[in-house]
Amino acid sequence: MSAHETTVVPEETGDEQAEPAGPAERAGNATVGDDIVTTNTRWSFAGSTPRHFDAHVNKSVPLYLHGHELIAKCVEFFSRPGGTIIDVGCSTGTLLASIARKPSSKDLSLVGIDIEADMVRAARETCARLENVTISQGEVLSADYTDSNAVIMYYTLQFAPPEQRRLALERIYDGLVEGGGLFLFEKVLSPDARLQDMLQQLYLEFKIDNGFEPEEIYNKERSLRSVMAPQPSNDTHELLHRTGFTGVVTIQKYLFFEGILAIK
Ligand SMILES: C[S@@+](CC[C@H](N)C(=O)[O-])C[C@H]1O[C@@H](n2cnc3c(N)ncnc32)[C@H](O)[C@@H]1O
Repeated sequence: MSAHETTVVPEETGDEQAEPAGPAERAGNATVGDDIVTTNTRWSFAGSTPRHFDAHVNKSVPLYLHGHELIAKCVEFFSRPGGTIIDVGCSTGTLLASIARKPSSKDLSLVGIDIEADMVRAARETCARLENVTISQGEVLSADYTDSNAVIMYYTLQFAPPEQRRLALERIYDGLVEGGGLFLFEKVLSPDARLQDMLQQLYLEFKIDNGFEPEEIYNKERSLRSVMAPQPSNDTHELLHRTGFTGVVTIQKYLFFEGILAIK
């Protein structure tokens, strides 16, 4: 039911059926907008999601395309002839394709990795004509980062279980060349409860302004409960320092969507 529809309450007759399921019960197969339907209330990047992903994520995450543009510019600082740039959780390959089209990327090897076979297929289609791009199915913990000049995790690490984050960052750190860069974009938590509440309300308004129905917003939030685990921003900065990264700086932030550049 959309927010603008009204519910007609029937008069009591004594032989009413059980009450219709409320939003929580009905969320088993729930639309989250842009023709994406979640099953068993769980968000998935498989199935039809890749087809609608770019449109959906652009309206769901503030500054999404700006973040892509910023990274595409910043990787130039790490591009060395014959070097390697890895995008882990590359989804449809949009960011890799925009990096590949830059003249400064001609001599680079651009590698896209995603855990989801359907996303790998979509990324291969996006990058089909780009000779220096390779896309493979893989996982953040087991990917090969050896001698990489830059690693990008654009809203990916938040989908890995919290206990795997440290290990993943250590493997990436070990693989990066000296002076290499990690681009880590994440939905983060605020250290202050009042601020978190304000940011959450502003984010809801951002989604309403972008045309989502309240029920779609609720269904999406619910679908992410068991698959995404945002961490406090401070913890992420601290973890990056502890891992060994020397320069750790926020290069983009809007509400609780933060982009960090960390240098080895
Ligand atoms: C929010 S999307 C990332 C968006 C993408 N980086 C972009 O620039 O548009 C998260 C992606 O990470 C992938 N993913 C989730 N967990 C992963 C893991 N453990 N290893 C690799 N990829 C993962 C998902 O399949 C999905 O495509």
